[in-house]
Amino acid sequence: MAFEKTTGGASGRIGKAPSACDTPSSEPCAVLIVGASGDLTKRKLIPALFYLFRNRLLSDGFFVLGLARSPMSEEAFRASLEEAVKDNKGFDARLWAEFARRLYYLQAGYDAASLKKAGEVMDEKARAHATGPNRILYLSTPPSAYEGVIEAMAASRLAAEERGWARIVIEKPYGRDLESAKALENTVSRHFREEQVFRIDHYLGKDTVQNIMMFRFANSIFEPVWNRHFIDHVQITAAESLGIEKRAGYYEEAGVLRDMFQNHMLQVLSFVGMEPPSVYESEAVRDEKVKVFRAMRPLDRGSVMDNLVLGQYAEGEVNGASSRGYREEEGVSKGSIVPTFAAMRLFIDNWRWQGVPFYLRSGKRLRSRFTQVTIQFKAVPHQMFSRLFEEEIGPNAVIIRIQPDERIQLRFHAKKPGSRVCLRDVVMDFGYTEGYDGLVLEAYERVLLDCMTGDKMLFIRSDAMEMSWKWLAPALDYSEGRGKAAPELSLYRAGSFGPVEAERFMASDGRKWVDYER
Ligand code: NDP
Ligand code: BG6
Repeated sequence: MAFEKTTGGASGRIGKAPSACDTPSSEPCAVLIVGASGDLTKRKLIPALFYLFRNRLLSDGFFVLGLARSPMSEEAFRASLEEAVKDNKGFDARLWAEFARRLYYLQAGYDAASLKKAGEVMDEKARAHATGPNRILYLSTPPSAYEGVIEAMAASRLAAEERGWARIVIEKPYGRDLESAKALENTVSRHFREEQVFRIDHYLGKDTVQNIMMFRFANSIFEPVWNRHFIDHVQITAAESLGIEKRAGYYEEAGVLRDMFQNHMLQVLSFVGMEPPSVYESEAVRDEKVKVFRAMRPLDRGSVMDNLVLGQYAEGEVNGASSRGYREEEGVSKGSIVPTFAAMRLFIDNWRWQGVPFYLRSGKRLRSRFTQVTIQFKAVPHQMFSRLFEEEIGPNAVIIRIQPDERIQLRFHAKKPGSRVCLRDVVMDFGYTEGYDGLVLEAYERVLLDCMTGDKMLFIRSDAMEMSWKWLAPALDYSEGRGKAAPELSLYRAGSFGPVEAERFMASDGRKWVDYER
């Protein structure tokens, strides 16, 4: 294979993209968004679909029918969506007008009669836009409405695949615990075959999350050291500077463990920890990811508090602006014990990872926004330079920055130039998009496109979803006061790196968190 050199930065090199890397175009289909008057439709779904349209990745046979109860004319619906995209880079009014002609709105409820009406409207529009019978059914209501909407979809035969395919997209949160997730699963599986079900975790749509697999399995130099013999520990951090915005109602029910750990954090972990699948196919990859969940050491109810630090932001300053504490946010109860930060230690009990701690940390209103995986290698076995240097030689690390400023860094030591024998820490740095000027897809663009092409690799399978809830249950019980011990919740200043207890937790293992550095 020929290799091309990237421009800029250090000497990162990437494999030349073969034609199979070209982004596939979608199949003709209709998209029904149920709950289309909401935030997700405006902020994520329509901008993503418009981007795909602009880049000619949508089939010509395509339209969206938005359904919700809010009284709104079609014009008002289109105008409110235009509002949401028009400040985006590269907005083109002519293209938008062309796209907007494919956006329809149906003011209706979420019962079977309304869904039946939606089906009739879709049939009519399908003829006008030559989409054929394929349809995506996107659940974009609050989760409490999911089961009712699914039943209504089934009763109105929207779920039936009589002529073309029908795929249902289900947003997170998928339940709020194992029991409710199973109940939802039960409803889903009564009306849809597993092949029809697309459970979204938008982190899987991030290029840099997928790239963990490429990094590990398309290179021969990393895999031999990707195990307990060479790796001291792994850190996964998803830090956010944003608070809960206007989502107090949801967040008070969820907290950071449901919001970030049950899904995004464990999904990233599964890519770092999985065994190489024998083929790059969706079921083979998802099988390997599930094996990681199966091998995760259960969080014992008694020891959960030794492996978990919970925090909640207090007032402080983020990016130069003062920020109120979580309990002062609108819609949050004054005595709330909902954690907005968690750090945890976990182990994967298998041959590859036995004894290697994985430290996971995520929180809101932290100093900066960054998501990264740090693979910290073991120190050299013998400090042969110990007579020359006072300090110990630190370990090597690979840092995979998921976002922002996507990059992979290899940290190692080199001699300081000059006559004296001194070491310095240096970084070999690969900027993920440096030297690449092709199309980049954001997470929602990618998952919507995959749903249209029927590729399930980046969606959650039901067994993985149930296992992650089951594994997390003792931590949820503890954090909500149902455990053996009362939950400890440490306050941290907004704009800090989280509670000092999280630092102490790492220090007690003789380790330190790796924060965002360029
Ligand atoms: P919203 O809260 O904005 O709800 C969407 C629409 O659903 C509302 O406009 C409303 O429409 C309808 N709705 C509201 N309450 C109910 C109810 N009790 N029963 C039935 N319908 C109701 O949600 P979002 O658009 O923010 O999110 C949609 C889904 O996606 C949620 O499950 C959310 O958890 C998930 N999600 C959202 C993200 C985001 O960034 N917003 C990110 C990741 C996941 P009307 O009153 O007009 O019928
Ligand atoms: C969502 C959570 O799933 O992910 C939000 O509900 C969080 O609370 C968001 O802010 C983070 O996503 P991203 O892509 O900004 O890292």
